[in-house]
Order: sequence, then structure tokens, then C-alpha cells
Amino acid sequence: MNPHLRDVAIPNDWDRRGLPGWSYHSTALLELEKEHVFRNHWQIAGHVCDIPNAGDYLTMDVIGERALIVRGKDGVVRGFNNMCRHRGSRVVADSQGNCKNALVCPFHGWVYNLDGTLRGAARPRSFPDLDKTEFGLMPLDLEVWMGFIFIRFRNGGPQPSVAELLKPIEPEFAHYKAADMVPSWGIWTQKTPVNWKSVRDVDNEGYHVAMAHPALQDLYGATYFDEPFINGVSRSFATYNPHAGRRWSVKNYVKIAPEPTHLPDHLRKAWVYYGIFPNAVLSVMPESVQFYQEFPLSTGETLLRGAIYRYRDESREQAAARYLSFRIDRDTMSEDVQLSVWSNESMLSEAFEGFYLSDLEYGVRTHHDHLRKQIPVLGLETAPEEKDMWNLNDALRSRG
Ligand code: FES
Ligand SMILES: [Fe+2]
Repeated sequence: MNPHLRDVAIPNDWDRRGLPGWSYHSTALLELEKEHVFRNHWQIAGHVCDIPNAGDYLTMDVIGERALIVRGKDGVVRGFNNMCRHRGSRVVADSQGNCKNALVCPFHGWVYNLDGTLRGAARPRSFPDLDKTEFGLMPLDLEVWMGFIFIRFRNGGPQPSVAELLKPIEPEFAHYKAADMVPSWGIWTQKTPVNWKSVRDVDNEGYHVAMAHPALQDLYGATYFDEPFINGVSRSFATYNPHAGRRWSVKNYVKIAPEPTHLPDHLRKAWVYYGIFPNAVLSVMPESVQFYQEFPLSTGETLLRGAIYRYRDESREQAAARYLSFRIDRDTMSEDVQLSVWSNESMLSEAFEGFYLSDLEYGVRTHHDHLRKQIPVLGLETAPEEKDMWNLNDALRSRG
């Protein structure tokens, strides 16, 4: 069977330069990224199993926005701005929890129902004209796909529905029955000292695996390949090397992992990564499914966020394999952090002349192309003045 989902021919002659170096260190550009890429594109908030019961909630504070995802008494998962309509306080403070029957604002005590409607203000007689129907929590676009909760901070955007966006990967991803999974260790976050695009650039190509990731190379280096971003989705696929196991974690992983009979043949010894523009990956392995994503904190700092989900009825062997694959991933991630730091800091140097990308890094190029489409100033080799960035970008956008 052809392990490719979509056969993609890499053009013979393509521009091998990456995005201009200035774009990794420009504050004005970062604001354009928030505006045209982060607020109006789908973002993974978590999984329905993170909030299994009525009143369970999770929050996500990113790019200056605050999301609150809460499960209602009717079982429906809804998304809101985590922002009280009185004076803007957070309605819930923690990243995850249960709020029983209502959301009570910690500032002055306004009370919201789990469906976001305002139940009432504290000391209501002090608001003689308050129309409660006008002051519900502000809803966010929300869509659940295979158990994963996607939100969008701005209503509407350049992407279609999540179901439409992810249709190319749906038949393959469906084998993992992710909607029935449960959390492994909860949602994690971590900061890393580089521009978010440097994190994504490293993750968008497997050219560096042989050199930089000894465990991954041992596990699947011989078969790994990347399919670039097309309509916002990429895919990377690898099956275990026949003689995997020089490294302790890999040897034990391959030995302990039970035959995953729930999966079709071509996925039984495979790790697959699906990139979702602009900043997220869903990845599957026989024992687990995970997401990870990046959000800019500033031009030089990024928040990494993700979670791993497991089968509800997993065996002890599956659990051990899941733990070992987590260890392999954890080592891989710290290797990537170092590489992204070195690549990112070079862009402040006068000597930096841009990337020169291999055919094996075509995925980096196609991700950059998606960014350029939303933010055309990224096509300028020389940095515009910071104060001119917005107007220049607007002008280029309107020219199409
Ligand atoms: S800000 Fe929420 S009750 Fe005042
Ligand atoms: Fe890597």
C-alpha cells in the first residue's frame, strides 16, 4: 500500500529561501500574525475528555485572548471569552476545574449559567436598567472533531469548518477512535526562548532527524517522509525500522508495545504527524494520540502547549509503551529547543542571508507560503519600518 495520503510532486525549481530574518524579530509583524493568523484560525483548546462532566471547564490564555471552554448541564461543550461582562475580570481563574452549577465572577460576584447566559448581577438593584439578555458571556466559534475541541477567537475566518479542513486526514485518523480516549497526564505548557516560527520551522521538516534525533532515527529514520502543507494541512509518516533498538527507550518500546490489532496494517508500526496551519500538530501512534501547538508570548518567547490521550481500557503493556514513547518524544523536544534557539538567534546577525532549503524541507516552504498569503509583507526581503507595517500590509492585501 502507498503510505502517502496525497502524492505531492516537489517542483524542480522553487525558491529555497525561508521567510526574511527580520520577521522573526519584529514586534509590528507579531501583531499582524495575531490579527491575521492566530485570532481568526482554528486553535485546539483540548479534548472533550478533559471536561467530561457538567460544570467542568478548561481555559486557555494566549495571544492576549482568554478562552473558557465549559460543559453545560445539557452535556454540550461551549466556548466563551473568559471575560466578565461587568468589568472584564476572568470568570474562572484556574486552567482546569469544575464550577458546579454556575460561573461566579470572583470580582463582584456576577453569576453566569453554564450556557453562558447571565443569571444575575450581585446587588441587582444597583443596576436599575440592566437587561440580562444583553450581558451573557461572549461566545467563541467552537467545533469538536474526533473528540478534539477547536475554537476560534474571532467569529468566522479564512478557513472552512474544521470538518472540512481536516477531511483529507479523516479516514486515516478515524482508525484511532480518538473521541473515546481519556487524558494521559493532562494539558501541559512550557515556555521556550525563541520566535514561534522557529519552533514551527524545526517541526515542519524531517531533514534534521538523522542528525539531531538519535532516538527517532533509531525508531523510524529509514522510512520517514513529509508531505507538505496543502490547504492548511500537512502530514509526516514513518514506520519502525526493522532493526530498531540501539537506544534503551526505543528497544524497550518496540519490544513492549503490543500488536495494535485495532489498526489497519499500514498503521500498526507507524507514527504519523498531521500539521494544522498555523501552529498545531495532531500526532498518532498505536498507543496514544496527542496534540501540541505554539503561541507567541513576544517576538522572542513562545508558549508550547499540548496533551497526550490514551485508550480508556489500555493494557499494562500499552501503558508501558505509551510511557516509553513519551520519553522518546520528550528527548526529541529538548533537542529541537536547542536547534531552534541557534537558528533563531542567527537572524539578529548581520551575516544572516536567509535559509537555503533542501527538497526535504519543502514543508517549511509551504508553511511559509501559507503565512505569506495571510501576511504579504512577509514577501519583503528588507524590513519595513515598524510604524509602516500595518498600512503596508493592508495595501498589499487589498492588491491580492
Ligand atoms: S468584573 Fe465580574 S462581577 Fe465585576
Ligand atoms: Fe525535531
